[in-house]
Amino acid sequence: MRTPLSFSLSSSVATLGACFIALFGSVPCLHAQSAVDEALPRTVPLREAQDRNPDPRVVEVDLTARVARVKTGPSQSVEAWTYDGDLPGPLIRTKVGDRLIVHFKNALPQPTTVHWHGIRVPIQMDGVPGISQPDVEPGGSFTYDFVVPDAGLYWYHPHVMSAAQVGFGLYGAVLVEDPNDGITIDKADQQVLVLSDIAIQDDGTLEPPDSGGDAGNVFGREGQIVLVNGRVSPSVSLRAGTLQRWRIVNTAKSRYFQLVLDGQPFTIVGVDGGLTTAPVTRDQVVIAAGERVDLLVAPQGKPGGQLVLRGMPYDRGYGSSEFRAVEDLVTFNFTNEPALPNAARPNPSRPIESLSAEGATRVSLELTLVGVDGKSEFQVNGVPFWKSKPIAAKPGETQLWTITNKVKWAHPMHMHGFFFQLVDEAGKPIQPIALKDTVDVPINKTVRYLIKFDDREGEWMFHCHILDHAEAGLMGTVRLGNPPPSDIRHTHR
Ligand code: C2O
Ligand code: CU
Repeated sequence: MRTPLSFSLSSSVATLGACFIALFGSVPCLHAQSAVDEALPRTVPLREAQDRNPDPRVVEVDLTARVARVKTGPSQSVEAWTYDGDLPGPLIRTKVGDRLIVHFKNALPQPTTVHWHGIRVPIQMDGVPGISQPDVEPGGSFTYDFVVPDAGLYWYHPHVMSAAQVGFGLYGAVLVEDPNDGITIDKADQQVLVLSDIAIQDDGTLEPPDSGGDAGNVFGREGQIVLVNGRVSPSVSLRAGTLQRWRIVNTAKSRYFQLVLDGQPFTIVGVDGGLTTAPVTRDQVVIAAGERVDLLVAPQGKPGGQLVLRGMPYDRGYGSSEFRAVEDLVTFNFTNEPALPNAARPNPSRPIESLSAEGATRVSLELTLVGVDGKSEFQVNGVPFWKSKPIAAKPGETQLWTITNKVKWAHPMHMHGFFFQLVDEAGKPIQPIALKDTVDVPINKTVRYLIKFDDREGEWMFHCHILDHAEAGLMGTVRLGNPPPSDIRHTHR
C-alpha cells in the first residue's frame, strides 16, 4: 500500500521533535576548550598527501582506507574510518591538467571504492561498483589514474554503503589549482576547509548508521559533533584585516552549513567547478552537502581581539534548524599588530560559455517521498532507484533538466562526471555563470539546469547527497552512449 508519507509525518510532529533530539542531540562535554596562549597556527592544519612522482605534471600518491583513532580536539579522540589514519583524509594537491595516480588499498573490514566527486574522470575511474569497477574487497587494492581537467576544489569518498562509510569518516579533499587564475594571495593565507560532522555515542564509539531507523533515513542523519579539518572548533592566529582565500567543501553526509562571520562580507569567486564568471558578495554562505565554495574574506577586528566563523542553524526540512545549536567553526585570534585597512579584493573573472536551451532535450524529474509497506521510500518520477530506468543521452547532446522537489526536505542533487549550468524558467542562464555538480533543490521548489554531455560513454549516477536519502531511493543514472549494461540497481536492494 502506498500512502503519501507527508501526511503521516505531519500528523505526528510531536514525536518528530523527540526524534530530532535523539538524532541531532548535542554533546556539550565533547566541545573543545582550547588551551590559552598555545602557539596558534595561521590556518587550520590539514595534512597533505605525499607526491612520490618526480614528474612535475604527475601527482602519484598512496591512499589506504583503515580504521584508526583520530584526535578531534586537545583531549578528545574517536576510532573512525579513515584514509591514511587521518580525519579528513589527506589533501591531494594538483595543478590543472596534471595526471593523478592514486594507489588505493582497502584495509577496512568492509568492501569500498573511491569516488572523485566533481572531477570529470572517465567512467572507469568514477568509483561506482557495478559500473566503474568491482568493489575493492578488504585487503584488496585499486589504482585510480586520470587527468584533472578543471581547476577547483573536489573531494573523494566511498561509493559503497556511502551513508555509513562517509559518516564514519571517509572523505578528503582534492585541490586542483590554476597558477594563472589571477588571484594573488600569499600561500600562507590560502586555506582549504573540510567541513563535516560525526556521530559519537556516549560510550565514545561511532553511532551505528541505522540509528533512528526509518525516521533517520527520512531526516538524513547528522553527526552531533561538527568538525573543521577534523577538529572541533579550531583556533588560528591572524593579523586583523589579512586577506584570505578559503576553499570550502561540505563533506557531511546530511548537514548543511550556513556560514556567517559576524556580518562581515564574503566575496564568492568560485563554486564546485572552479571560478564563476564574476564574484558576488554575501554576508552569509550556505553550503549544502557535497557543494564547494571558493571565497575571499578579510576578517576584521581589534588587534588582540577575537572573531568567530559560525555555522548558523539551517532549516533543510521540518524545522530541523530548531534542534541544532549555533556552531563555532573557527576562532580567529587577532595578533597585536595594527589591523590592515580593508584593501580592494581581487576581482577575478573567468569566461564560461553559456549553454543554450534551444534544441535541448527536456528531462523532468519529480522528487517524492512515499511510504511503502511501512517503510519510507524516496522516488524519482514515481520509482525508487532500484525500479528506475536510466535516462538516455547521446554524446554531444545538451539536456535541460527540470527537478521539482515535492518533499518537505531539501535535496542537494549531485550529478557524476559532468558540470551543469543553472537556468531560470525561460532557460536563460542565472548570473554569474557557474559550473556546478551539486545543487540544492529547496522544499517545494524547482531547479533547472542545462547539461552538455561529451563522449565519455558510460552509465553516470545522479543522486541526492543526503546519503541516507540516496540509499532510501533518491538516485538514478544517465546512460550516455552505448555502454555495457550494468547491474547497479541490483546491488541496491
Ligand atoms: Cu559525492 Cu555519488 O557522490
Ligand atoms: Cu535528499
